[in-house]
Amino acid sequence: MGGKLLYEGKAKKIFETPHPYEVEVYFKDDATAFNGAKKGQITSKGILNNAISSLFFELLESNGVKSHYLKRIDERSMLVKKLKIIQIEVVVRNVAAGSLSQRLGWAEGKILPSPVVEFYYKSDELGDPLINDYHVAALGLATPEELAFLAAQSLKINSILLKHLLDRKVKLVDFKLEYGKSDEEILLGDEISPDTCRFWDSETNLKLDKDRFRRDLGEVEEAYQEIHDRLAGGPKV
Ligand code: TMP
Ligand code: ASP
Repeated sequence: MGGKLLYEGKAKKIFETPHPYEVEVYFKDDATAFNGAKKGQITSKGILNNAISSLFFELLESNGVKSHYLKRIDERSMLVKKLKIIQIEVVVRNVAAGSLSQRLGWAEGKILPSPVVEFYYKSDELGDPLINDYHVAALGLATPEELAFLAAQSLKINSILLKHLLDRKVKLVDFKLEYGKSDEEILLGDEISPDTCRFWDSETNLKLDKDRFRRDLGEVEEAYQEIHDRLAGGPKV
C-alpha cells in the first residue's frame, strides 16, 4: 500500500495507512529464536503466516472473540486496527513443552490436567521474563480486572482453537497471545501462527511449528505449509 514504515519487528513490519486508526501488518520471511540470538529465513513464511493468522482471526471473530484483524490485503499483508499494545505476553499450555518442561522438569508431551496460563513481560532487553499478577501490578502493565480478562479471553481462545485444530488432526500444545487497546477496548492483536504456537500432528506428535527452526529439525517450510493446508482445506498457497 506504500504507507510510511511505523515499526519493524523480528517477523513483521507495520505500515501507516490513509486511515489514522488502521495499520498494515506485513509478514516477513525472517525467523529468529532465543531472543534474536538465532537468525534465519524460512521461505514463504510471511505468506503462510499471513494466511494462517487471517484464518484464525476469522475463526475467532465468528466465535465472538474480538481482534485487531480487519481483512487480508494481499499475500503478505493484513489490515488491522491500530492498538496500544499491552506489554504482557499471555501463554496458554495444554501439553508440557519448551520452557515449561525445563522449568518444572516435566517431559515434553506430558498432558496437563488443566490448561496453564502464564504471563511474560514483553521486553526484548530482559528476554521476556515470566511474571505473575503481583509483578504486573508493580510494573503497572494492567489492572487486576484487565489481567483477569486477558486470562479468561486466552482460555476461551484456547477452547476454540483446540477443537478446531483437533478436527484437523493437530494437537495445540501451547501458544502465545498479545493484546492491545483500541478506544479503551481490549482486542486480541499480533498473530497466531506456527511462529507463536506449538502444533503437533495429533497421531504422530510430529512437530509442525517453529520448533523445527529453533531445534534445527529440518522441513520447516513444509511444516508451516502443512498447517496452512489443514486449516484451509484447499490447494496450496
Ligand atoms: P516457551 O515454551 O518457549 O515458553 O514457548 C511457549 C509458547 O510461546 C510457544 O508456543 C512459542 C511461543 N513463543 C512466542 O510466540 N514467542 C516467544 O518469544 C517465545 C519464547 C515463545
Ligand atoms: N521470537 C523470539 C525471538 O526471536 C523467540 C522464539 O520464538 O523462540 O527471539
